[in-house]
Amino acid sequence: MCGIVGYIGKKEAAPILIDGLKRLEYRGYDSAGIAVLSEEKLIVQKKAGRISELEKSLSLKEIHSTIGIAHTRWATHGEPTDANAHPHVDCKEEIAVVHNGIIENYNALREFLSRRGHTFRTATDTEVIAHLVEEYYTGDLLQAVRFALAKLEGTYGIAVLHKKKREVVVARNGSPLVIGQGKNEYFVASDVSAIIRHTREVIYLEDGELARITDDGFSVINLNEEEITPKIEEVTWTLDQIEKDGFSHFMLKEIFEQPNTIRNSIRGRLNFTEATARLDGLDRNLDALREAKRIILTGCGTAWHAALVGEYMIENTAGISCEVEYASEFRYRSPVLDESTVVFAISQSGETADTLAAVKEAKRKGALALGICNVVGSSIARETDGGVYIHAGPEIGVASTKAFTSQLVVLSMVALLLGRIRQLSFENGKEIATAISELPSKIEKVLKLDKRIRDIAGKFYKRSNFLFLGRGYNYPIALEGALKMKEISYIHAEGYPAAEMKHGPIALIDENMPVVFIAAKNAVYDKIVSNIQEVKCRKGAVIAVISEGDEEIKNYVDYAVEIPVTIDMLSPILTVVPLQLLAYHIAVLRGLDVDKPRNLAKSVTVE
Ligand code: M6R
Repeated sequence: MCGIVGYIGKKEAAPILIDGLKRLEYRGYDSAGIAVLSEEKLIVQKKAGRISELEKSLSLKEIHSTIGIAHTRWATHGEPTDANAHPHVDCKEEIAVVHNGIIENYNALREFLSRRGHTFRTATDTEVIAHLVEEYYTGDLLQAVRFALAKLEGTYGIAVLHKKKREVVVARNGSPLVIGQGKNEYFVASDVSAIIRHTREVIYLEDGELARITDDGFSVINLNEEEITPKIEEVTWTLDQIEKDGFSHFMLKEIFEQPNTIRNSIRGRLNFTEATARLDGLDRNLDALREAKRIILTGCGTAWHAALVGEYMIENTAGISCEVEYASEFRYRSPVLDESTVVFAISQSGETADTLAAVKEAKRKGALALGICNVVGSSIARETDGGVYIHAGPEIGVASTKAFTSQLVVLSMVALLLGRIRQLSFENGKEIATAISELPSKIEKVLKLDKRIRDIAGKFYKRSNFLFLGRGYNYPIALEGALKMKEISYIHAEGYPAAEMKHGPIALIDENMPVVFIAAKNAVYDKIVSNIQEVKCRKGAVIAVISEGDEEIKNYVDYAVEIPVTIDMLSPILTVVPLQLLAYHIAVLRGLDVDKPRNLAKSVTVE
């Protein structure tokens, strides 16, 4: 995720800022930049790539400055280039802004500011902030920032410099910002890990608050200009605890981030007036999507499981034939493709070699290739003819969790959009859009089951095998539950469509075989209950993910995990979360390195 660092004091600012950026590297980034004031000059340097690249481009010894701001960018709008890196400046290059978050109305603001004569140099949403502050600046930077913020819709944590002001102005709305108080010096950061080397006395800004920081201190106000008395707190956490936000592992942190990552995936994309989804990256492909005769979804590993769910979503919602292909197999057979085929490549990293090769193969054969990626500007995002970013933020745990649920949310919006431009009624579209918007709060409820799932993990962590069974939309979740278990706990696990059990795997069932059923109440519920009974009468232990309020099923299972009800097509986004937690707790109880499982790479860039 993007990171912010700022400094004002008596020491050389640049080395402190660069050091702060390095402490934020673990969050993931694709470019970095710095702005300092030196003798009323605003010096801005920014570079795509690693912080070391930025360092090389700076002659730190020549920049003497004791005030500055810096940023690591994880692209959301605009590719990771030098120009799109932060800080962003106004027309006169007097104001510099670093920003974390997403400005949703940046297009409208850009048009408004362009009409007022402002010239834009980048493809980012952030640049509008620099120009808005310029628009309202009449000598008081804090006030100009306050007026600018009143125009913004979306989320932000920002730090702003003006070349004629020895002060740093910061503000927050939905994206963290902390001020560190040192001796005759002040620090700013989006994450305390960037500054705890210098001070442990911090002030956490609340949403809707702004602060002016000078050499003599700082004052905090809210957007209505009321003064706020800041609360100074002491950071007692270690650096490692801070990076993981207090969680023991990145994987657990990422599981718990899901309400927010899904909010980010949805933000600004549901159109209730038209009962559809607004996916800008597909705008110029709408005709092709309307005319398409066939959709192919491709990916590897967890992304392939997302594709399997997407197939059901698209066929049921848009009534268009949809197939799923392992990207690794795609180019080694002779896929039948033509101009009426649309291929969606799904990839968290956007760098998986097999998925990239599948995209090239699809294009070669005349199909339209679109991407569903997390990393902006990644190879697959660049190679495809359009697509949708999932906006899940950097995923550090090797086992994919939050990217998977965001892929599913994006696929549900693609299905909704496809449906509405083809056959889906307004009423059905509205039902889907409403259900999508309710997902973040429902995931919050699922996460409250963590302790229950940990207790269940305690009963099973010594087992050598697991079976995962589900049907319909939840068949791919059985595969994903088994993959998570294999990847991080090294327990042999298999996922199957529940009805397939009778065709073979039933031979494995005895008192040593735990079977995880995904048994949400839906069209195939009765059949799943029969499958559960088949396991029980062979003495298998049954753990079931069930719908809230389903008392009956509890009579047949050994351990039930109750999750909120949603519409059928979105159920996998909720049912997968307990399985992520189960795999996580079992791996921890087995004493394994959850974030770096043996033999696995986060991004498989070789065939
Ligand atoms: O970056 P991608 O989504 O293309 O990665 C695909 C797979 O390598 C990935 O999902 C892998 O299966 C994960 N380790 C699953 O947790």
